[in-house]
Amino acid sequence: MAVCRVCRQRAAVRLKYANLALCKQHFIEYFERRIFRTIKKYNMMREGDRVAVAVSGGKDSVALLYALSSLREKLKVELMGITIDLGIKGYSERCVQIAVRHYEHLSIPYEVVDVREYGFTVDELKGLRRSPCSACGVIKRYLLNKVSREMGARVLATGHNLDDFLAVVLQAYIRGDLRLLSKLKPSLPPIDGLIAKVKPLVETPEKDALLYVLLRGLEYMEEECPYAVGATSIEYKALLNQLEDKHPGIKLQMLRAFLDRIQPLITYEEPPLAICEKCGEPSSGSICQFCRLLELSRTKLAKNRCRKLN
Ligand code: AMP
Ligand code: FES
Ligand code: ZN
Ligand code: ZN
Repeated sequence: MAVCRVCRQRAAVRLKYANLALCKQHFIEYFERRIFRTIKKYNMMREGDRVAVAVSGGKDSVALLYALSSLREKLKVELMGITIDLGIKGYSERCVQIAVRHYEHLSIPYEVVDVREYGFTVDELKGLRRSPCSACGVIKRYLLNKVSREMGARVLATGHNLDDFLAVVLQAYIRGDLRLLSKLKPSLPPIDGLIAKVKPLVETPEKDALLYVLLRGLEYMEEECPYAVGATSIEYKALLNQLEDKHPGIKLQMLRAFLDRIQPLITYEEPPLAICEKCGEPSSGSICQFCRLLELSRTKLAKNRCRKLN
């Protein structure tokens, strides 16, 4: 029987990458301590910060919310929650309900933003772009930035974990996307109307986030988004886990090699951001991607209505 390295009681988890067995209580402490260290290492938060936590209802962001809630006094930060209702039928309603139940349980002030307020849902964007996921990504980036800034937050924290981060590194590497490779950072400072963005789970393997919510008995959305089926990121993650099984610790090694040795060598001059002519939010062109998407969806909805009338 494996025993906890700290208290010698029966172990609840075995972390191969650290050659470590821990009981439930000591795993929870270990998990939260790693997040605290990550926050300090990458200067993610300052004392007195107002931190908006983006909670989708999935295991990662639920784990992040509870870990930050346990750490909030030590970090001396104020937390608030932000959840976007993307209007995906049979999925978004349940995600939002889970997030709201957690905010209320932890007494964290929050805001739920419904994309219907903007006149569309992610379901209605099907067919406008390669996949609804890419449109959904534009919507999430835009609304999380805008609303958390309006809520008075200085920092936006998301639940991207080690596996998520490395899957994007691989994807960007395969495409030779130097711009993305240069921008992929655990902590991005505020710039030109963009709020500071941090990923406190960047050193946390996805499996550990799952263990944390399971051991703490936290409700989370188990189902994947219906549009995620077949996403290449799932294949990249499976590949990375095959490597990790054979060589425990290789994922963390890859992260460190990328951040410490490879990324500093990538030079990419990002042009300064402009202001969107329609909505006044930061944009890389004269009209931001979100407003362009709105325009496209209005045209599509109008066409559909005409078709129904004819
Ligand atoms: P994803 O892009 O779905 O992999 O999610 C990455 C992170 O973005 C999550 O861990 C959350 O922090 C945040 N996020 C994703 N979807 C939402 C949502 N609907 N509302 C709020 N935050 C979200
Ligand atoms: Fe956005 Fe799946 S969560 S398309
Ligand atoms: Zn123990
Ligand atoms: Zn705009």
